[in-house]
Amino acid sequence: MTDEAVQRGLEDVVALESKICFIDGKGGRLIYEGYDIRDLAERSSFEEVAYLLWYGRLPTAPQLEELSGRLRSMRALPDGVRRILEELPPTTPPMDALRTAVSALGSFESTAPVAAGPTGIGGAMRLTALLPTIVSEFHRRRNGRAPLPPRPELSHAANLLYLLTGTDSSPTDIRAMDVALILHADHELNASTFAARVTASTLSDLDSAVTSAIGTLKGPLHGGANERVMELLREIGSVDRAAAVITGKLARHERIMGFGHRVYKVEDPRATILRGWSRRIGEEKGNLLWFDLLRQVEQVVHQEKGLYPNVDLYSGSIYALLGIPDDLFTPLFAMSRVVGWTAHVLEEYADLRLIRPKAQYVGPENLTYRPLGERSG
Ligand code: ACO
Repeated sequence: MTDEAVQRGLEDVVALESKICFIDGKGGRLIYEGYDIRDLAERSSFEEVAYLLWYGRLPTAPQLEELSGRLRSMRALPDGVRRILEELPPTTPPMDALRTAVSALGSFESTAPVAAGPTGIGGAMRLTALLPTIVSEFHRRRNGRAPLPPRPELSHAANLLYLLTGTDSSPTDIRAMDVALILHADHELNASTFAARVTASTLSDLDSAVTSAIGTLKGPLHGGANERVMELLREIGSVDRAAAVITGKLARHERIMGFGHRVYKVEDPRATILRGWSRRIGEEKGNLLWFDLLRQVEQVVHQEKGLYPNVDLYSGSIYALLGIPDDLFTPLFAMSRVVGWTAHVLEEYADLRLIRPKAQYVGPENLTYRPLGERSG
């Protein structure tokens, strides 16, 4: 037995070098490949950000057009995966359905390659293009409706909104979705990206790495938090009840979802941008209830615990007003984060080192083995 310091939750451990994403936790800045997230959210598109994260530079106009065309052409689901989704009970959590479908993809098409560079990026594009189709297929089937074919003439955000809601959305709604996708596309070594990189570091394939990541994103301390925020808002119901509900929960030592972060010590810059969009979409739809409730919750949580909002606080209020059911919020997160997961996996393949930390053994030692018949109690 050694006696080394244990870094619980790997907090503050620097596990690898990466060129993809930088989080300035004290300054409240998020940088993708050198570009500030605020500029990207203001001026770029999800497709452009995907190119940036996969290739490490912004595309030229023809490069963006080519990437966009390839994504549009890869949206159709293999029949075998469709049949698997049909077999799942309608009560299956959508994240489980997504994880199952992604893990099955390689059985019906060639498995995404274990390769960096253009071959690997092709596999990343295929997964990014397919995730909205998978979730939409499962969602419509569980509600007894026929699947909707993806629309190749639409951008990634517009097609995704169409598939999830079954209707054409307004340009403002589509832009809100595009911005949400940009903001969720990567976030350094968060738990799900780390899970993807651990899987890839064994030379396992891209689909397996993304399957690991989906299972990790699902947890309520990670991607599942925004769904819980909406549960909380529905429980609060009206602005005048917010303070009592929140202080009651804090007194019972319950966590308030959408607050706190391992890396940010100030407000998460994505929360700042999403707060603006929550208000804008609320105003457009003539429904500011969620926004007003969130402002109130924010005030109480900050006053009581000094905690700041994270990305999950405002996103659900936007998705709900866009017509997306609560249990599709985390799958929606995956539809964006798949770009970051795959970018990190490709970076891992390009400079591979098996990820294998150590544990401090604290169990018993030197026990005497007794045969089965001699044991009691
Ligand atoms: N509500 C109430 N108290 C909180 C919260 C919260 N949301 N977050 C942290 N705290 C408190 C803890 O109880 C702890 O208090 P204590 O020292 O008195 O025990 C203190 O703040 C530190 O908390 P830790 O759990 O040590 O902080 P950690 O870095 O491990 O946690 C985490 C980060 C998991 C995100 C945490 O803030 C949390 O549980 N938040 C709610 C879930 C959530 O919103 N997750 C989404 C994160 S963003 C993302 O993954 C996309």
